[in-house]
Amino acid sequence: MEDLTRLIDRLETDQVLNREDFIRLIREHTPDTDEYLFQKADRLRQQSYGNEIYIRGLIELTNYCKNDCLYCGIRRSNRSAQRYRLDQEDIMECCRTGYELGFRTFVLQGGEDGWYTDEKVCRILTSIKHDYPDCAVTLSLGERSRKTYQAWFDAGADRYLLRHETATPEHYAKLHPPELSLAHRMECLRDLKEIGYQTGCGFMVGSPFQTTEHLAEDLLYIHKLRPQMVGIGPFIPHHDTPFAKEPAGTVNDTLFFLAIIRLMLPKVLLPATTALGTIDPNGREKGVHAGANVIMPNLSPLSVRKKYMLYDNKISTGEEAAESIDSLRKRMAAIGCQVIVGRGDYKK
Ligand code: 5AD
Repeated sequence: MEDLTRLIDRLETDQVLNREDFIRLIREHTPDTDEYLFQKADRLRQQSYGNEIYIRGLIELTNYCKNDCLYCGIRRSNRSAQRYRLDQEDIMECCRTGYELGFRTFVLQGGEDGWYTDEKVCRILTSIKHDYPDCAVTLSLGERSRKTYQAWFDAGADRYLLRHETATPEHYAKLHPPELSLAHRMECLRDLKEIGYQTGCGFMVGSPFQTTEHLAEDLLYIHKLRPQMVGIGPFIPHHDTPFAKEPAGTVNDTLFFLAIIRLMLPKVLLPATTALGTIDPNGREKGVHAGANVIMPNLSPLSVRKKYMLYDNKISTGEEAAESIDSLRKRMAAIGCQVIVGRGDYKK
């Protein structure tokens, strides 16, 4: 215990450990050392962002996807998924609702769907930025060419989320079909960062075949990339995927990695994810106490929410819904935090 807390101190000071020490920390952490780690992460969150929690309105554009990721409920070979896509008018309606509720960041997320051509997304961005010049737009539309990323950036996109999923090629190959590669994913992330996006990577905790070594590799990759955002949530099985019978990641392991990320990147924008809220009704609060400072309520039209099922029982109504923002405000106030109306940019 004594020894491990020294390791945590060193992680805080150096913002990184070597591979062996990361592996030790991941293998040997205990409820006591977690308590120590979470307190440090919570304190660092406060030093960077005070008591402010940033909110993002998540608009799930489309559940059409040309990819076939083995863990994902909207993979192309899932014939049971009822497919939908939102057009520009639908999206603008979501933004209108969101703006009135106090959202100043809209996250346009979707499967990799060719219907959203470069031009179409540019028109959507132009329209949102015209109507809501005080808002930030985050895109999360998967792997595209550098040229496309540049065009979307020029049309006004501010941020881009693209989880790397795992930083070990062999593990990546076990989670994805052969036509997808980690090398290309990482190239996309490099491009996004160079273009000037506030860029987010991330991974699932407890994904099938994941080992301690893989997780250490994820942390080293994040240290190297220095993203402005990191998305981390538990893996949760989806009944229509090859991983239907695999166990879910745990709440505590997810909190452990959130806290480590906060120590590595004190300023990072770190969401308490929907997946964390799905496996624990107090996931959001617990996430904040482990260093998270962002929450992304669901702003999709009610008619499509149940269709964007990345994993079983994904929450989309109640506390998770954008329209429940008042109860989210109260819940955050109860733990001493304030939900902010504003873009909530990365603080350099
Ligand atoms: N469990 C948890 N997270 C998942 N995602 C996709 N499928 C699942 C699942 N079964 C995550 C991936 C992806 C993000 C949009 O959702 O990490 O990057």
